Amino acid sequence: MDKRIFIILGLVIVLCATGVYRVLANQNKEVNMNGKKILIAYFSHSGNTRAVAEKIQGVTGGDLFEIKPAKPYPAQYNAVVEIGRQEKENNVYPELTDNGNVENYDIIFLGTPVWWYTMAGPVKTFIKNNNFDGKTIAPFCTHGGGGASSTYTDMQKLAPNAVVTEGFTSYENSAKTDDVKNWINSLKF
Ligand SMILES: Cc1cc2nc3c(=O)[nH]c(=O)nc-3n(C[C@H](O)[C@H](O)[C@H](O)COP(=O)(O)O)c2cc1C
Repeated sequence: MDKRIFIILGLVIVLCATGVYRVLANQNKEVNMNGKKILIAYFSHSGNTRAVAEKIQGVTGGDLFEIKPAKPYPAQYNAVVEIGRQEKENNVYPELTDNGNVENYDIIFLGTPVWWYTMAGPVKTFIKNNNFDGKTIAPFCTHGGGGASSTYTDMQKLAPNAVVTEGFTSYENSAKTDDVKNWINSLKF
């Protein structure tokens, strides 16, 4: 009788230890980029997309590039919503402070807030002013409840000769580092 209790207790301990180990191992799981050269380029107006970009940078070790409009958008929410609407309606490509250069990279993580169901204007300009032929774009976006809408399909249209992978979509500032890692690992670079 006593012996059986010890065996059961032993089994419970082993099972718990295995579970704890799995959780810890998963937390420490890093991503394998197979030696590819990584750029993380993003535009962010209020910080949500920047937070995701920094998480991607943290797990991939790639270079971070902030896409900045030459004329900064106003901080006031309603004002920027209206400018974004006009830019989309008139298919505006706002000038950037620096067009960046994707030439030396294999994989470009490209991030944007969703503005009027698609990428924000500065990200359109960034794609237009760089040559993405033969590159891989791993897109990510943050949104206010409407999801990615046509953000990723529009990126593919602007860079027809790039491979656009499955994207990482998150609501406002809700993305967790583990979600980012799982997404990158699922892309199998
Ligand atoms: C001009 C503008 C347009 C927006 N359009 C959408 C939209 O179509 N769908 C949506 O879910 N959220 C929309 N939002 C909300 C943003 O996508 C969301 O707040 C995002 O996380 C902001 O990212 P950021 O902090 O990196 O700028 C819009 C916000 C702005 C300023």
